[in-house]
Amino acid sequence: MHSLVSISDLSKNDILDILNLARKFKEGKISNTLSKKVIASCFFEASTRTRLSFDSAIQRLGGSVIGFADSNNTSLANKGESLSDTLKIIGAYADALIIRHPQDGAARLASEVCNIPIINAGDGANQHPTQTLLDLFAIMDTQDKLDGINLGIMGDLKHGRTVHSLIEAAKLFNMSLFFISPKELRMGHDQLFSLKQSSIHYSFHIYAEEIIDKLDCLYMTRVQKERFVDIDGVNFDSYCINLNTLEKARTNLKILHPLPRREELPSVIDDTPYAHYFKQAADGLFVRMALLEILFATV
Ligand code: CP
Repeated sequence: MHSLVSISDLSKNDILDILNLARKFKEGKISNTLSKKVIASCFFEASTRTRLSFDSAIQRLGGSVIGFADSNNTSLANKGESLSDTLKIIGAYADALIIRHPQDGAARLASEVCNIPIINAGDGANQHPTQTLLDLFAIMDTQDKLDGINLGIMGDLKHGRTVHSLIEAAKLFNMSLFFISPKELRMGHDQLFSLKQSSIHYSFHIYAEEIIDKLDCLYMTRVQKERFVDIDGVNFDSYCINLNTLEKARTNLKILHPLPRREELPSVIDDTPYAHYFKQAADGLFVRMALLEILFATV
């Protein structure tokens, strides 16, 4: 693996190797693989978890970080420099680039103009592959397997990049997918066609109550209002869960969420045995350590 631009850059075995190594880091494994390495962390869009867990992972592996959390003070924002030139320059100063950008395809562009490994930390509504790795870690951690699980995916399936990466990975593990969203926020035809081609079972639902008794994991997402062109007329009621939603839940059900959450996942759920989202985010540190370790072992 040279770069991680899309989750489809990884094979099933690559993913399992990363998750197994993440488990070792969680259990206390120490490594200095990034000693003398400088990693650029460039966030052209807001982040808390992805940026800080990558910064922490880099430093724990002995590396150092350059970059920015707010691109408003760059020459791109103030002097009209192109994104392509900006990325080329960053690529000359660092040994790898972690990039988040509001534009679909920005990480792919970085991989084309830079000669260093690129990690996509989220590009527009397209992909968020490292989030998927930690989502898979959470599923493995709570269900002891990835193959064949029943996964509910709820919320903004159209604009949610974490959903788009996750369903790509779900194909590798033959998961059954239950999509819960208003019709307006279902994912695109191309993605559904791709699931069909891979013989993945999927079904559509408006409310989680319709299928909660079938699910091993319920993956919730925030409505991505910042990516909406037309928000009028969408019924948001079916996005939110409450304690009643979980009345018929299986005992092994775990609720996952990439966070940040809004009204769809009220804090009253935090005290139930189903809540796993804060552990999911915390384990992102170990997953990102594992990714960096493996990436630098192969470059
Ligand atoms: N899940 C996620 O990407 O969170 P941040 O936007 O805080 O990085």
